[in-house]
Amino acid sequence: MKITLFLLALATTAFAQQQTLCDQYGYYASGSYSVNNNLWGKDSGTGSQCSYVNSVSGSGISWYTTWTWSGSENNVKSYPNSGLVNLKKQHVSQISSIPTSVKWSYDNTNIRADVSYDLFTAADINHNTYSGDYELMIWLARYGQVQPIGSRIATASVGGNTWELWYGANGAQKTYSFVASSPITSWSGDIKGFFDYLTQHQGYPASSQYLITMQFGTEPFTGGKSTFTVSNWSANVN
Ligand SMILES: *[C@@H]1O[C@H](CO)[C@@H](O)[C@H](O)[C@H]1NC(C)=O
Repeated sequence: MKITLFLLALATTAFAQQQTLCDQYGYYASGSYSVNNNLWGKDSGTGSQCSYVNSVSGSGISWYTTWTWSGSENNVKSYPNSGLVNLKKQHVSQISSIPTSVKWSYDNTNIRADVSYDLFTAADINHNTYSGDYELMIWLARYGQVQPIGSRIATASVGGNTWELWYGANGAQKTYSFVASSPITSWSGDIKGFFDYLTQHQGYPASSQYLITMQFGTEPFTGGKSTFTVSNWSANVN
């Protein structure tokens, strides 16, 4: 009896129940991880999307999102994502590593969408967490010829892969996007290496920028019905 109760307690603390998020900013957090349905650009088109949390543990999060979007084929409709919560805000130069691993899949790739990491940094430690002075994106895939903001400025070798590097500004925010040449559906790497590259080659001011947001997800433009499944995402900032 005692053993059964102990196991029950362990099961409820280590794994959250499945959650369904269909509201524009439907959000769920447990331990170090969150999931946000995040339909920030929904008014540029028509469609629907819900995100589902399967499980969360200390070593990762499992979730998926199902969407259908049409209209304005060059506009992002949403960014359903998993994120790190309670990020300890420190300057990028003080961070020794940002190890992360992910395994994901799309059941229908006849879509216009990317699969990407999204990180924001800012000089102001109290900056809002949905934008920054700088945005670092790592596109593990793109479907339907969608493009990052700005234009292609270089080819970069980081963490054993070769990436197209794109740069563009969105108001005051400077966005660097590293784009894989073909979909990488299983990836583990150290995101600090991307900041180091930008510091060395693009004058990125790592010693005055706080890391304020770290997320992984997908940006649908148009298409569907399509389901994006993240079987396991993990990330840490050291
Ligand atoms: C998720 O990934 C982390 C880091 O690779 C690993 O430690 C953990 O066991 C994985 N979890 C599952 C459920 O596969």
